[in-house]
Amino acid sequence: MNIIDIINKTKKSQELNEEEIAWLVKNYTDGEIPDYQMSAWLMAVCLNGLTEKETFALTAAMRDSGDVLRLNIPFTVDKHSTGGVGDKTSLIIGPIVAACGVCMAKMSGRGLGHTGGTIDKLESIEGYRTNLPLGEFEAILKKTGFSIISQTGALCPADKKMYALRNATGTVDSIPLICASIMSKKLAMNADCLVLDVKYGTGAFMKTKEDAEKLAVLMEKAGRSAGKKCKAVVTDMNVPLGKNIGNALEVKEAIELLQGKIKDTLYDVCIELSADLLELAGKGTNEECIRMAENAVSSGKALDVLRETIRLQGGNENICDDTSLLPQPLLKYEIRATKGMKILGFNCEELGMTSLLLGAGRLNKTDKIDMSAGIVMNCSVGDQLAADDIIMTLYSTVCSDFSDAAVRALNAVKFKITEKPSYT
Ligand code: URA
Repeated sequence: MNIIDIINKTKKSQELNEEEIAWLVKNYTDGEIPDYQMSAWLMAVCLNGLTEKETFALTAAMRDSGDVLRLNIPFTVDKHSTGGVGDKTSLIIGPIVAACGVCMAKMSGRGLGHTGGTIDKLESIEGYRTNLPLGEFEAILKKTGFSIISQTGALCPADKKMYALRNATGTVDSIPLICASIMSKKLAMNADCLVLDVKYGTGAFMKTKEDAEKLAVLMEKAGRSAGKKCKAVVTDMNVPLGKNIGNALEVKEAIELLQGKIKDTLYDVCIELSADLLELAGKGTNEECIRMAENAVSSGKALDVLRETIRLQGGNENICDDTSLLPQPLLKYEIRATKGMKILGFNCEELGMTSLLLGAGRLNKTDKIDMSAGIVMNCSVGDQLAADDIIMTLYSTVCSDFSDAAVRALNAVKFKITEKPSYT
């Protein structure tokens, strides 16, 4: 086998066999194939696509490039979201399904660019350790049924190398490559059931619903072809999920939801995804699982799971009863309407970038973040605002000049009427 033949085959849309794909991934991961040749192959994939068979072979080869997790726990579930703005669902769904007797073992990543990351959110909790050895991860899972830690370097080294190369060569936006990248990591986690939340819209990787549906179908098939129970759902990321964007602000909202104080779209999405996981895990019909998930919230049992998991991971569990113990911003800035205006929509990518400017996110992997920073949306799509009503509130500790963030925030609001809102 040689790399030139492989590049040429994909360039001519000829199907590669499993051995060729396994050889390609192994030799690239081992450093035998240089970046420039892998880039040529990735670009050929971007232009010509891959067949389903090739995509599943690529997924399996990438999964097998590193460790495949074998926890000493009989049955686990996992969920994955393709990334968004204000998406704190893992912090809510994990405790809900655990409270219903189904163990969720999850490894997550950090935020980059306009999207947030679950690990950053958890690290806004004082003392919370995300870097646990696998033995401790397993012990917590056995006690509470829920734990989230950061991804270990031993899983999917092929994806680490390939994703960095794709970022540098304009080859990220290919549905088969995205499928293989995400599913190889999920399959290396080796959960028995998987729910995949594929997002579309301004804040998502997939800008159109049609593309999100294609990716969802392919990911679901990739999971099933690897022997997993798998369900993919497509959800809207044209509006932020919930009202809060930013690390500590999102943890606060997750806790308030588990305290039973929030019953909005975020609640509905979390109940639906939890019920999908419970159903896959054989807990009952979808309707029964919806009721089970709702009871886990209303009884306070899901909050109890979160409280105990935070304690076992070294975090201050008292935040579950008093969210003012989370990092508090020193500064705030309200964006208000000057006259009546109707809210038509938001650009989530712009909201994510506003949050980044406030200090809540990072442009480069090594940037430090302000855990207290972010945005609270004070209105929803369809709202009619009167003069002086607050559109959104910006928070920060590190950003003393809000002018850039305010311009960006206003750019993110689509509204109908004559007069524009002013900065206060
Ligand atoms: N997220 C991933 O992990 N991989 C991709 O290719 C795109 C999004």
